[in-house]
Amino acid sequence: MTFKTIAIALAVGSLAGGAALVASYGSSAADKSGIPYRDGEYETVEAPEGSPLSELISGYYFRTPETRELQDDDFMNPAFIWMEQGAELWSTVEGEAGESCASCHEDVEASMKGVGASYPKYHEASGKLINLEQRINLCRTESMQAEPWKWESDELLGMTAYVRHQSKGMPVNVSIEGPAAPFFEKGKDFYYQRRGQLDMACATCHEVNYGMYIRADLLSQGQSNGFPTYRLKWQKLGSLHRRFRGCNRQVRAVPYANGSDEYVNLELYLAWRGQGLPVETPAVRQ
Ligand code: HEC
Ligand code: HEC
Repeated sequence: MTFKTIAIALAVGSLAGGAALVASYGSSAADKSGIPYRDGEYETVEAPEGSPLSELISGYYFRTPETRELQDDDFMNPAFIWMEQGAELWSTVEGEAGESCASCHEDVEASMKGVGASYPKYHEASGKLINLEQRINLCRTESMQAEPWKWESDELLGMTAYVRHQSKGMPVNVSIEGPAAPFFEKGKDFYYQRRGQLDMACATCHEVNYGMYIRADLLSQGQSNGFPTYRLKWQKLGSLHRRFRGCNRQVRAVPYANGSDEYVNLELYLAWRGQGLPVETPAVRQ
């Protein structure tokens, strides 16, 4: 191995634990790492107008061959255990109204195609921005008169992944105009706000320093196109808000609640930062 390792002092000050951000560059073709981003063998998507990124790159290209292999093969991808549960729940009658999702939405492939790529979305009746989990639970409580599923429950994760999977390969396509605009602005402010004991913003890691190592982790652009995502660390499918909570904790900030307005707004801003990236749900990450 002849990687040249360059330590780069983090502009914002030191990271706890004395960790520095380190970039490694292969010095010849023979030094391929198997990580597409490092090997320069990744796909990019043109950034939307006004984006601070010069190009959009899925987190997929920052991961090892082993991790990507799990995502590429539907039979090996552990997330499919939850997806199968979602498929079963789609036609399960529950609640006072005596309906299942299928009673109203019928064939999932037809009715849900493209839907998951367009969330979060402005919801007229409540005057709020809602994400896919919340939209599904609205159908549970209002249309089915059933109990809402708990956040991070196997049921809600499975159904969210199942619905979003119907958009796999389609470009992320959220609306940030009209009534969605004020929520987008709040999400953007959150993204750039420094927080926690380490005083770092999302942008510090995912905009300024992507491609660098933070401890053993190769920083990506922090895109959301693969969620819900199976994480090897979690040994479980997990929501985007769970990931937000983890990233907040990394800088020793107090995380917000799953499903909080703050995180739904952030989710819209983040979706727009990945506008045009293909939906990968369910992705696999380290
Ligand atoms: C009694 C009928 C009914 C049932 C049962 C029902 N829904 Fe819905 N669903 C609706 C209606 C009505 C809408 C709103 C359509 C709109 O606003 O365009 C909707 C919207 C949605 C949307 C958003 C679609 C979009 O284009 O934004 C999703 C996702 C969804 N439902 C999922 C589910 C799931 C999952 C279940 C089962 C857990 C379910 N629904 C059960 C009637 C139902
Ligand atoms: C101290 C650095 C750091 C900060 C600050 C940080 N993250 Fe992360 N984040 C990581 C690391 C490390 C990972 C795992 C490797 C990767 O994909 O970058 C990660 C992963 C992610 C992912 C998953 C990407 C994928 O492809 O699955 C998302 C989404 C994300 N972060 C969003 C955020 C948001 C939003 C914020 C601000 C609230 C934030 N992060 C703040 C370090 C950070």
